[in-house]
Amino acid sequence: MPTTVSGTILQTPEPGILQVLEDHLVTIGDDGVIVSVVPRGAVAADRSLDSDEVLIPGMIDTHVHAPQWPQLGTALDLPLEVWLNNHTFPLEARFADLAFANSVWASMVPSLLGNGTTTAVYFASIHEPATVALAEACIKFGQRAFIGRVAMDHPDGTPEWYRDTSPSESVDASLRSIEALRSMEDPLHLVQPMITPRFIPACSDAVLEGMGELADATGALVQTHCSEGDWEHGYVLDRHGCSDSESLNGFGLIRQHTVLAHGTHLSGSDRELLIAKGAGVAHCPLSNAYFSNAVFPARTSLESGLRVGLGTDIAGGSSASLLVQCQQAVTSSRMLEDGLVPGVSGVEQSRIDIPTAFWLATVGGADLLGIPAGLLEPGRVFDAVALHIGEGSTVGVWDDIDDWDRIFEKLVRRSSPTDIIDVWVQGKHVVRSPGADKVANEGQLRSDTSDSF
Ligand code: GUN
Ligand code: FE
Repeated sequence: MPTTVSGTILQTPEPGILQVLEDHLVTIGDDGVIVSVVPRGAVAADRSLDSDEVLIPGMIDTHVHAPQWPQLGTALDLPLEVWLNNHTFPLEARFADLAFANSVWASMVPSLLGNGTTTAVYFASIHEPATVALAEACIKFGQRAFIGRVAMDHPDGTPEWYRDTSPSESVDASLRSIEALRSMEDPLHLVQPMITPRFIPACSDAVLEGMGELADATGALVQTHCSEGDWEHGYVLDRHGCSDSESLNGFGLIRQHTVLAHGTHLSGSDRELLIAKGAGVAHCPLSNAYFSNAVFPARTSLESGLRVGLGTDIAGGSSASLLVQCQQAVTSSRMLEDGLVPGVSGVEQSRIDIPTAFWLATVGGADLLGIPAGLLEPGRVFDAVALHIGEGSTVGVWDDIDDWDRIFEKLVRRSSPTDIIDVWVQGKHVVRSPGADKVANEGQLRSDTSDSF
């Protein structure tokens, strides 16, 4: 039986373009794919949003370090390489303990869903059981996820107590985790494995080569860090005599839908290479402000045809919310355009607006990954978020002042996870907030919290 949801839809089919579909009816097939989106007319939907609620596409976080969840918000005053060695690797090493891993996944996955992140692209840890358990958690809680066991073996970029024991063990463990994820019971096809060499300083040439061969052999998508900051950029120049992109390309890792985190130090020719190969960047603006020594030129990159999605880089940034990243992407672009030192100008035509940032968080991420998500239109999956924007929400709408453009800006900049009422992934209802239950008790929502609407 198809199900239906009605309400006002706010979404961004193109960068910079807000589309408002007032009081529309979305019909969703049993497979979770949208059949039609039309003006509601007199039809009563299975779930009718109120006039002070809106529906937006679910957001796509293209770069998350799942095991860093417990340290979100801490130690960001340090340079990247110190933060990795003193805080991050000791924490990630603890995921050898499966019970600990499961306790983190059980906290993180629902929390990200509650922030409206319907798809997440995860770096797990080096541990196979923790990686498989992360996939199980995503399936259980209903989040779409791309998940990679992290490959890292090089003494330059890893401590001796947190690395793969040899290149062949690294490649074998990655292959086993791909096979394990592909053979899981996953009726909605939510989980896909990813090949995940951490970054060049953490990987021997043998591992990088093995990862490229694994991509050929398995067809799994690739993710890694690329040109993140001065240190990484300089290290790769020293070791391989070229940029990260050129080096990764030499190992067969720059491919269709390869997700490259950060890319703040990409050159124009690096960008051309990525565009030619169909790879793209996970733009993580808040993390970049701490660790990247540069601002990613989002607008130039988009205008040149590069695929770009948005990422939190948990725990490189300090927030789990992609709406916060949207705001930061806009802020960072303004600083890039205006310049950071009085009297020294920035880079002209760098600023982006809120609808462009939201496009990155939805359609841009979907295009980067090659999945039919990011927009509520026929043929795409029904991954969606219902938000309360009325009295009692943090959005602060003034009826006689705000039009839809302003409401959308306020929603992105001011709403909080407490305003998120419902979340659906692949047509399945996966989150109903306590606030929504209050509404349900008033008779405006069905009060069951089952899989249905
Ligand atoms: N480069 C290699 N590992 C990491 C990581 O965990 N976070 C960030 N931001 N950059 C990295
Ligand atoms: Fe990262």
